[in-house]
Amino acid sequence: MRQPEDRLVIDSQQHEDRLFPPPPEFANRARIRSMDEYRALYRQSVEKPEEFWAERARELVWTKPFDRVLEWQSPHAQWFVGGQLNASFNCLDRHVQQGRGSKPAIVWEGERGEERILTYEELLAEVSRLANALRAMKVRTGDRVGIYLPLVPEAVVAMLACARLGATHSVVFGGFSAEALRDRMEDAGAKLLITADGGFRKGQVVPLKANADEALQKLPGVERVVVVRRTGEKVPMKPGRDIYWDEAVRGQPATCESVALDAEHALFILYTSGTTGRPKGVVHATGGYLLQTALTTRWVFDLREDDVYWCTADVGWITGHSYVVYGPLAEGATVVLYEGALNHPEPNRIWDIVERRRVSILYTAPTAIRGFIKAGDDWVKQHDLSSLRLLGTVGEPINPEAWMWYRRVVGGERCPIVDTWWQTETGAIAVAPLPGATPTKPGSATLPLPGIEIEIVDSAGRPVPPGEGGTLVLSRPWPSMLRTVHNDPKRYMQQYWSQVPGRYFTGDGARIDADGYLWLMGRIDDVINVAGHRLGTAEIESALARHPVVAEAAVVGRPDELKGTGICAFVTLKEGKVASTELAAELRSHVAKEIGAIARPDDIRFADALPKTRSGKIVRRLLRDLAAGRESQGDVSTLEDLSVIAALRDSEE
Ligand code: WT7
Repeated sequence: MRQPEDRLVIDSQQHEDRLFPPPPEFANRARIRSMDEYRALYRQSVEKPEEFWAERARELVWTKPFDRVLEWQSPHAQWFVGGQLNASFNCLDRHVQQGRGSKPAIVWEGERGEERILTYEELLAEVSRLANALRAMKVRTGDRVGIYLPLVPEAVVAMLACARLGATHSVVFGGFSAEALRDRMEDAGAKLLITADGGFRKGQVVPLKANADEALQKLPGVERVVVVRRTGEKVPMKPGRDIYWDEAVRGQPATCESVALDAEHALFILYTSGTTGRPKGVVHATGGYLLQTALTTRWVFDLREDDVYWCTADVGWITGHSYVVYGPLAEGATVVLYEGALNHPEPNRIWDIVERRRVSILYTAPTAIRGFIKAGDDWVKQHDLSSLRLLGTVGEPINPEAWMWYRRVVGGERCPIVDTWWQTETGAIAVAPLPGATPTKPGSATLPLPGIEIEIVDSAGRPVPPGEGGTLVLSRPWPSMLRTVHNDPKRYMQQYWSQVPGRYFTGDGARIDADGYLWLMGRIDDVINVAGHRLGTAEIESALARHPVVAEAAVVGRPDELKGTGICAFVTLKEGKVASTELAAELRSHVAKEIGAIARPDDIRFADALPKTRSGKIVRRLLRDLAAGRESQGDVSTLEDLSVIAALRDSEE
């Protein structure tokens, strides 16, 4: 098993004695106000899980009530069996009917400073119009629809319009390449794609339609393409296939009855990287997902009617699905949506938005926080951030220094911080403090939320004593858990339920301290977490191997001050090909083109050979040490050729 990153372990051990109880002013008004209250809820959730979830599920609007809460035949769960509901109805109509129609649902800002505000009533009308248009284009319940958009309101409208019809959406992050889009659309079997003429990112135009066209060349299954006008640039439109969004919705009625769907109906497929070169299509079901994202939004963000809530994630990631769209809208929140980079054109863009929009809850990533620390406190101090009352982080472990900075400089020592641990597969936050109850320790995600049971196990699957490192597993099913891997039920079984039989395997290394607090220590598999985004090293390796000069490539992570993990690729070239700085640059761009800019390697290190065992397996442990500039501690006795390591060590430029 891989050793967790030393830096994190050392950090967390040094500082774990610091404890920050919730400020009394916060706790007094919070939805969950004390540890006693948390413990009572937690106890109920594990002792009588079906009653616990059933009681809360009844707060959603069901067109047909469920008969049974859970059918669990490990590893297959069905929640709220027999029940029917619609996610779009629960996120929109319900609030309009309850008199919140004129409350802003989305407060959008473009990178160039444009503004659009959509009330719940307006959002419902837009969603209904698009749903009608999609239906006119023969989209039916159960069909898959691809969404490849910048962070504009239409992205949310598109997701909810699909949900309204029961078409399963599959959002692909706008930063992904044509190639990545094609693979995902093909695997999902998408029939229609919603994209835009382009998007704006750091002042540049992202050519989404051009990428989509390239992807669709080899994808006859995608029969229709709906194009949002965002940049206004002229893009080729294929007659009979492509139609502009405004033309598609023109004349469509602003009402559209939502389709009653089984609780287990697939709400969406979202692709995420795993240990093989092929991303996994994680499938989430309507009822359980909606319930748990709504509840965790309420509990963890302590959401109240007058909050202005901003989660800075893109809807292309699970964080955007759960905590920009479904969770907060199911709870009737006002959600800030910002199209661009948080530090564009200056590092204070984020604080400027917080000040002007009077944001009260801010949820962002440790990578972003480390970037702001680097830019300097002055950028923050220019702004009045007194509207903030709660801060959150997600995506990767937050180092205690960054946590303390966030608390002091951004939160004015008054805002609780919720460090939320979860995954694409868990659907909803699984481990996090309750801001009015849980005393926090910088760098710890703290305690499991109600309904979640965590354990740390060793490589044989046996629980380890408190304080000892191991693998994090979840020991019981939960409503928003993934249901399967699209097109690959075997992989679902193998990846998540076979490593430790009967337990859900997270792939994260962690330990639980004497107080029961969880400390995450990074991935233990060949998945790396770069700036809070998950990448499979195998995916980057296959992209490199597709380049004509590359014979073999091995990719590992190495510590990076800003991104948490940087990408280091060891590359051997084909006979007669010569390493050069230009070639390294070309390989880096090649990967960015094949997958997307987030996968661009930081270092390319050419070598004559890669270290292998006698059976031919690349020894990544050694490469990780080399990439980090560490002396290798590990056992090298099984290595085929020891001279390879010496040569690799010298390969650093
Ligand atoms: C992996 C999941 C779920 C939101 C975004 C990422 C890491 C996530 C934390 C945290 C330490 C974290 C884990 C996890 N991770 N949140 N608060 N502390 N690590 O979603 O792409 O599915 O990645 O992100 O390694 O397994 P994802």
